[in-house]
Amino acid sequence: MPNSIIIAHISDVHITPLAGLAPRHLNIKRTLGLMNWHRGRKHVHRAEVADRLVADMLATRPHHVAVTGDLCNIGLPGEYAAARDWLGRVGPPEMVSVVPGNHDIYTRIGGHPGVGLWREYMTSDEFGAGIPGVAETDMGFPYVRRIGSVALVGVNSAVETRPFVASGCVGRQQLAALARVLGALRAQGLARIVLIHHPPLPGLAPKSRALTDAAALADVLAQSGAELVLHGHNHRDMVNHGDGPVGRIPVVGIASGSAGRRHKDEPLGRYNLVRVRRVDEDWSIEITGRGSKTPDGPVVDLDRHVLDAQST
Ligand SMILES: [Fe+2]
Ligand SMILES: [Fe+2]
Repeated sequence: MPNSIIIAHISDVHITPLAGLAPRHLNIKRTLGLMNWHRGRKHVHRAEVADRLVADMLATRPHHVAVTGDLCNIGLPGEYAAARDWLGRVGPPEMVSVVPGNHDIYTRIGGHPGVGLWREYMTSDEFGAGIPGVAETDMGFPYVRRIGSVALVGVNSAVETRPFVASGCVGRQQLAALARVLGALRAQGLARIVLIHHPPLPGLAPKSRALTDAAALADVLAQSGAELVLHGHNHRDMVNHGDGPVGRIPVVGIASGSAGRRHKDEPLGRYNLVRVRRVDEDWSIEITGRGSKTPDGPVVDLDRHVLDAQST
């Protein structure tokens, strides 16, 4: 593996078609979600935008792709299969890591496996399977994958919620497991990048859309450290910092990977290239955003951030 590792980050594509809707799927939450989607989101999230961004992303030949949730809209069985097909076009499971969003674990779907159809994209590799704390929740989170000097740590923050609520929860069991995983990875000297759908710190989302245990997650990060957290959910580009045991931990949120037009104050679609490099005792993390500046414009560099990431 080279000295410099590049992880491409894309999120919140929301492009699955709502085909196969049956009356038995319609509860209050899904009915409201369906109305909402017809009123606005279906005009915003466009498969062709995501396809154009993914083609550009793959042309840059990243070492790995991170997808931080909300592939679906209202969690219908047909959406999970369509999302699995989309993931297949992004890359094989060993090249692509996924965490679910609140639209992926949405409401009841009977006996359907739901995000279980994406299981291969959400499991530890051989290295990660040996890390203490992995796969301690029922759904197999957190998971760990190693790409050279980088360890990706996949955390699930999605839980079924009531109508009008898009909050998330990591849960005590997963938080305890995450602390052990981050501690073990620090001892190995790897750059730890946590993948999570919801913004991981208090105050980064309105209450009805936030992590209910963000403060507890912030505590785990403050004690165990991480070199970077990547998240989605807000459909906006965000750079924040959490406390770490030594230095500050950069927390980077990304706009939707399929927005074909501006919606409220959400920008056009994009993806990020995260370049991680060892510099002496620290890590250099540089993020380049790519997307279109106008709805039909070419995909170009949008911005560049050099993050102050100490080894935490
Ligand atoms: Fe989303
Ligand atoms: Fe979300």
